Amino acid sequence: MHIVHTLPALAEALKPFRHPAVVPTMGNLHDGHLALVRQAKPLGDVTVATIFVNRLQFGPKDDFDTYPRTLAADCAQLEAAGCDLVFAPSEQEFYPQPQVFRIAPPPALADVLEGAFRPGFFTGVCTVVMKLLACTQARTAVFGKKDYQQLMVIRHMVRQFNMPIDIRGGDTQRAPDGLAMSSRNGYLSATERAQASELHACLQAIAQALRLGQHDFSALEAQAMDTLRAKGWQPDYVAVRRQADLQAPEPGDAMVVLAAARLGGTRLIDNLEI
Ligand code: PAJ
Repeated sequence: MHIVHTLPALAEALKPFRHPAVVPTMGNLHDGHLALVRQAKPLGDVTVATIFVNRLQFGPKDDFDTYPRTLAADCAQLEAAGCDLVFAPSEQEFYPQPQVFRIAPPPALADVLEGAFRPGFFTGVCTVVMKLLACTQARTAVFGKKDYQQLMVIRHMVRQFNMPIDIRGGDTQRAPDGLAMSSRNGYLSATERAQASELHACLQAIAQALRLGQHDFSALEAQAMDTLRAKGWQPDYVAVRRQADLQAPEPGDAMVVLAAARLGGTRLIDNLEI
């Protein structure tokens, strides 16, 4: 496996290939990321992972400075998963000047749910993903459904800019108790970790109610928020939406339930397709 840190070295390493399949990450990799790499492997003639903690998508009170940076361990895991090439630029390399050109996704997609609680987040994500897809010459790129809204926003961006890139979604990888794997799970204390699967359980309860024909989405959402609060969580949202554009569902739409909640100092997100 080849590891490069600069744009010229990346371009050189990509020369022999016609169809890079790319998995963008911020590092501190776990089985969720590695599953995306394994999914990408048969989809191109070279499997590329990027590791870059993107300052643009962190708010002023977010964990940019403390976000775990574990490059050596990440590369060992990527190699074992069959990755061919890692692009891990420094901030100076990737943002040599302040990134004043930005990709601003439309409010209907990007100012709801996560975007409502993290202003500017999806502009930061779209801007870095646009740059990463361009410099890796991606023809296929794989993103996790764990970050459901992110995947949807990126799909819309790629479609609207006519980028010749196939965007694939990867299933959410979970711990045996149901907790979605996340780099931020490492922030949880032992007690919080034992409790953390309640978020997934709450989504499953809503999914079950929907399958049984319950149609009062706001009642289900409010009830789930109350349950989480009673268990000591601080929920930002629990929302039943349609899969295609995350707007309020109409009868017959394929649905997804999404939630974000804080447990102690850690903010977790999860979702479940119905
Ligand atoms: P990061 O949080 O490192 O996640 C990288 C990719 O892994 C994303 O596509 C995310 O959805 C996926 N992922 C995370 N946890 C997962 C899980 N449990 N199962 C399956 N996939 C999972 O998302 C980002 O980085 C950044 O926003 C990025 C797209 C790299 C732009 O900076």
